[in-house]
Amino acid sequence: MTIGIVIVAAGRGERVGSPDEGPKQYRPIGGRPVIAHTLNIFLSWQRRGPIVVVIHPDDAELYAAATVGLAASDITLAFGGDTRQRSVYEGLKALSATEATHVMIHDAARPFVDHAMLDRIAEAFDNGVDAVLPAVAVTDTLKRSGSDGLVHETVPRSGLYAAQTPQSFLLSEIRSAHEKAAALRRDDFTDDAAIAEWSGLSVSIVEGSVDNIKLTVKRDMTMADERLTANALLPDVRTGNGYDVHQLVPGDGVTLCGVFIPHDQKLSGHSDADVALHALTDALLATCGAGDIGDHFPPSDMQWKGTPSKIFLDHAAKIVREKGGTIMNADVSLIAEAPKVGPHRDKMRENMAAILGISLDRCSVKATTNETIGFVGRREGIAAIATATVVYRGSQA
Ligand code: CTP
Ligand code: MG
Repeated sequence: MTIGIVIVAAGRGERVGSPDEGPKQYRPIGGRPVIAHTLNIFLSWQRRGPIVVVIHPDDAELYAAATVGLAASDITLAFGGDTRQRSVYEGLKALSATEATHVMIHDAARPFVDHAMLDRIAEAFDNGVDAVLPAVAVTDTLKRSGSDGLVHETVPRSGLYAAQTPQSFLLSEIRSAHEKAAALRRDDFTDDAAIAEWSGLSVSIVEGSVDNIKLTVKRDMTMADERLTANALLPDVRTGNGYDVHQLVPGDGVTLCGVFIPHDQKLSGHSDADVALHALTDALLATCGAGDIGDHFPPSDMQWKGTPSKIFLDHAAKIVREKGGTIMNADVSLIAEAPKVGPHRDKMRENMAAILGISLDRCSVKATTNETIGFVGRREGIAAIATATVVYRGSQA
């Protein structure tokens, strides 16, 4: 099973007003375009397959600007039509060219969808359900009134649900339902579940989320912005630690934080054995759950033999930045009986600052001996402990 995603973003957002501000899906909430929030949630969902975004032919530039910095290389673009139904159909056609077997069809204008909800839908697929509608039970009492403005009746709300997206289907089934509707020139369906029902599919309800609102009117945009700004008041500060040891063997010097220090021993290891940079690389990777240095640079891989460890740290810093992180500080403690680190400390800090692209006062190197005890004390090895602090921005869904 491969769950493809179709995100429809070709609407003009007439109800939201202020047309000079552009289509609502490209307007900022919490400092980023609506569609960037929506895409981020799907891009970071573990079970996602290929993604198709359906945009208006006039919006190519807006889309490109809105998705700068998103890991969006495997997104396919399609152009939408003048109704949501047509836009979805275009998206389904584009998705059919991929390996997707299932599809989640989502409104770009619903940026508060969450992974738990996507998991519930995927679980329904796992259980053999072919058409899934996320929906929330109606809680308000419902009244029907006429053009006279008077209440005509109270509608029993039991069994009534408000439909949300992503509405999710077996791709071949929803595609042929859309094909059938298009062939019969039926373009009055307001959602995909309605087309599925019409074409005879049975649609199962899974629990939606009250937060998963569709931004429709100006007030929705303002509330969404306020909500995200309030969240932003809780800074996403993360701390990672790393530890490494390399063995000392007879030699001519050691490399620590990229500085070669002449010594009567050397560190053994498959790269340049720079324990300090290895520990720091792990600390950085830890701030975004990106595994450890061995996952990225397997010791069994001969291409890393003798490699300057700078490239490992460079790589970790790049991963952190791609995930929206700003490195706030990096701190390394070296535990070594010899050689003396003090005279080289400033150069080491300069190297760290240059590799990480941060100021010198955010980089720290400390050293201690092990009081002649243990493996460090016996000069059998050098250990390093590192801590990194990274602030992440945006919703890390
Ligand atoms: N949509 C689309 N193609 C259309 C119409 C709508 O892809 N021809 C998309 C919208 O971009 C939105 C989703 O369908 O992400 C839900 O539609 P809606 O909230 O109605 O958005 P708009 O049609 O843009 O807004 P309005 O109806 O107020 O004009
Ligand atoms: Mg619309």
